[in-house]
Amino acid sequence: MSANYEHTNGPSESEAIAPRASDEVADVTGAGDPLPDPGLHHEPERFTDVDPKAAKRAERQVAGMFTLASLLMVGFIVAYVAVGIHPDDPHAGIDVGDLQLSNLTLGLTLGLALFLVGAGAVQWARSLMTSPEVVHERHVMRPDDDIREAALNDWNTGVEETGFGRRKMIRNSMLGALALLPLPAVILLRDLGPNTGGTPAERKEHTIWAEGVRILTDVTFQPIRASDLEIGQLVNAMPATFEDLPDHGPERINERAKSPVMLVRMLPDEIHVDEGRENWHVDGILAYSKICTHVGCPISLYEQTTHHMLCPCHQSTFDLADNGKVIFGPATRALPQLPIAVDDEGYLIAQSDFTEPVGPSYWERTR
Ligand code: FES
Repeated sequence: MSANYEHTNGPSESEAIAPRASDEVADVTGAGDPLPDPGLHHEPERFTDVDPKAAKRAERQVAGMFTLASLLMVGFIVAYVAVGIHPDDPHAGIDVGDLQLSNLTLGLTLGLALFLVGAGAVQWARSLMTSPEVVHERHVMRPDDDIREAALNDWNTGVEETGFGRRKMIRNSMLGALALLPLPAVILLRDLGPNTGGTPAERKEHTIWAEGVRILTDVTFQPIRASDLEIGQLVNAMPATFEDLPDHGPERINERAKSPVMLVRMLPDEIHVDEGRENWHVDGILAYSKICTHVGCPISLYEQTTHHMLCPCHQSTFDLADNGKVIFGPATRALPQLPIAVDDEGYLIAQSDFTEPVGPSYWERTR
């Protein structure tokens, strides 16, 4: 590669306006369509080019910005640790005020740090680096050795012009800022780490349904007797264990998302029962997960006469009289069925947790 450099800072007036004889007309298209060569325009000198004090002042400004960026990144970590949103008690809910304060401090410190790294680099380039204009001539890609050597010299010249070696205060402060840059990401990655209760896949596969847990209506949270449901009726329901969860917080939200069921009642002889599920219903009352197995929409568009359950999101249709099997749409897995029974007082209860994961399928499923 061949390149001609003209250092534009500090040329004499006559140098600045003298046209190059060979460049008065340049045929850059190769098709005999000449374009006038606009020539090289020389930038005016900057204060920092002629005044060493101004250059020093600019250097301090740039170093100040990089240093402040470093401090803000440390501040980010301090804010992450000090403004806690993870209560010591895992059953306690997240305080919304703490969450907002955490978001504010993390956003301000990281945002300002990134801004100052960028602003420092811009100020450095504008006020202290030289800005040569370059004429680049096209030719074969592989340069001769002497040209490669010249390119290497040009590179070294460029490095020299940035002052990277000479301006140690800028260099060191910038390196410090860049070295700390990955730290916020490392701190944030901590949130992807292990949590209590197994791997994320395992936690998804279990709900708070368990043997003997009463089934409550989703609205009044009252236990339901088998006699409360009429043929053709559908009731949305939750496990009684839901009431034991903390009033707020991720655990309540997660379980609220995973455990809703639909109770439907139909004539027992209308039900087609798969092998092994013979005792999963109570007098024609069946319980299915309310979460579509396609991508997880809540479903309850029930057609009594056909016993079909339609998902409003992408129209997957499940046959509740036939083990929740998919009869139409993009879902590929039947609705998980909850085995139910009746306790001594006549209330509907779960026989166990779901025997398969609820919600959308995913490749880490272990069951
Ligand atoms: S989420 Fe139910 S069909 Fe897509």
